[in-house]
Amino acid sequence: MSYQANFRVWRGDSSGGGIEEYEVEVNEGEVVLDIVHRLQATQAPDLAVRWNCKAGKCGSCSAEINGRPRLMCMTRMSTLSPDEPVTITPMRTFPVLRDLVTDVSFNYTKAREVPSFIPPQGLKPGEYRMQQEDVNRSQEFRKCIECFLCQNTCHVVRDHEENKPEFSGPRFLMRVAELDMHPLDDAEGTGLDRKRTAQEEHGLGMCNITKCCTDVCPEHIKITDNALIPLKERAVDRKYDPLVWLGSKISRR
Ligand code: SF4
Ligand code: F3S
Ligand code: FES
Repeated sequence: MSYQANFRVWRGDSSGGGIEEYEVEVNEGEVVLDIVHRLQATQAPDLAVRWNCKAGKCGSCSAEINGRPRLMCMTRMSTLSPDEPVTITPMRTFPVLRDLVTDVSFNYTKAREVPSFIPPQGLKPGEYRMQQEDVNRSQEFRKCIECFLCQNTCHVVRDHEENKPEFSGPRFLMRVAELDMHPLDDAEGTGLDRKRTAQEEHGLGMCNITKCCTDVCPEHIKITDNALIPLKERAVDRKYDPLVWLGSKISRR
């Protein structure tokens, strides 16, 4: 069944903009990104939108649909009321480049600040052995498609530009957690204390476990329960255990 939907789309650039309204055809089985493409093909050829796979895997088409951060390619029109307008705005936490396209380079900066996996010294690739439960833990975190919806949603930075330098956001705190819990990561052997950097460089203490990041993750990764809370527990154990504290002081000499 086809119908005409009222689409309200934010148009503008870094100097400002506003909502523009369109009447546009919707057909059975379509997703919000289909409708945006139809708008481009018919009424708004210069409408800027970022997308790539249309399968929920590239993480490009993030936006806010009726105020909720979502992937446009994975939001079925059948889940939205045909009688209500559909409002699409760019992700709020990142600067607008044009229309629905934001500058997400904040996230790439934060990604570069997390040192990558440090292989165990003396073991060759192929000799690595891990328990299946450790493999499963990493695999959950590696489902991340870097859509940055969690980064966009977290209240620590959403309306607080001033927190951005100190806070890496859920996606990259999850990366620190993944590496810190990885049984083969040899960061400590090189003098890198991932728990300390989580607190002092990535702003772990600013997360007050509201779980909004987890709520919007299209890969259903339990970011808060499986990454952020365990990382907090590990970091606190280290800080308040006098033996661990003493050991870290001696080993740093
Ligand atoms: Fe997107 Fe989930 Fe990855 Fe965050 S953790 S960037 S919401 S896939
Ligand atoms: Fe933000 Fe998620 Fe923590 S929304 S406050 S990073 S639990
Ligand atoms: Fe790739 Fe939507 S277009 S996730």
